[in-house]
Amino acid sequence: MTLPETKILIFGARSFAEEVADLVSEVPGLRVVGYVENLERGRLDMLHGLPVYWIDDVVGLAKTHQAVCGLGTTLRRELILQAKQMGFEFKSVVHPKAWVSATAVIGEGSIVSVGSVVAARTVVGAHVVVNRCASIGHHVNIEDYTNIGPGSHIGGGCQIGSGVYIGIGATLIDHVDIGSGSVIGGGAVVTKSLPARVLAVGVPARIVKEDIQGK
Ligand SMILES: CC(C)(COP(=O)(O)OP(=O)(O)OC[C@H]1O[C@@H](n2cnc3c(N)ncnc32)[C@H](O)[C@@H]1OP(=O)(O)O)[C@@H](O)C(=O)NCCC(=O)NCCS
Repeated sequence: MTLPETKILIFGARSFAEEVADLVSEVPGLRVVGYVENLERGRLDMLHGLPVYWIDDVVGLAKTHQAVCGLGTTLRRELILQAKQMGFEFKSVVHPKAWVSATAVIGEGSIVSVGSVVAARTVVGAHVVVNRCASIGHHVNIEDYTNIGPGSHIGGGCQIGSGVYIGIGATLIDHVDIGSGSVIGGGAVVTKSLPARVLAVGVPARIVKEDIQGK
């Protein structure tokens, strides 16, 4: 028996969008049918054999296609809101080789990439990216539009605000809180809670910039 397929448009057409398309193509029941460019009209017509549409030209597809965001930075929020206004629903994508506890919740439009683990009672909000091989402990709360970098480790009970960017290979020990809009540098080890909109780097992580505009 052939499963019905959901047609997916990847919003974004840069390199992370190609990775997202690759992930989506491995999820049974989903089929990537094109990309949507929102920055530079006519930059390219095709990408790996699939059409690249200009954003204004896909309004008519909102009833028959679902969306997955292919922007890797926290700028994804703006594009997602634009697509939602056009009527698109965002699909959440869990790669078949990720492990998500049956007691965890994954919000609309979030991506859990290959090799990642989301442990018991954790809540991942909407439009979050859990990138390759990240491990999220139990009873963690991650708010919308946050990006969890490849190979990072989030200890149990952490509270991570919205639009946070956690760099590749960073570690948060258990029960730290990260304020919305903060950026944690790749490889950092966060041992204490951090306020909103700071950049923290190093081992142990120290704040090196305040009042930042996200990543
Ligand atoms: C933190 C990061 C986002 C840079 O942010 P930025 O605002 O451009 O910061 P800057 O490059 O101005 O760095 C500020 C300071 O922090 C230092 N720094 C930056 N990233 C660092 C890191 N990961 N570890 C230690 N120090 C770091 C810089 O050397 C600089 O120090 P200096 O002022 O003494 O020269 C980036 O370095 C990073 O770690 N990115 C991770 C990217 C990632 O996860 N990619 C995976 C994609 S698949």
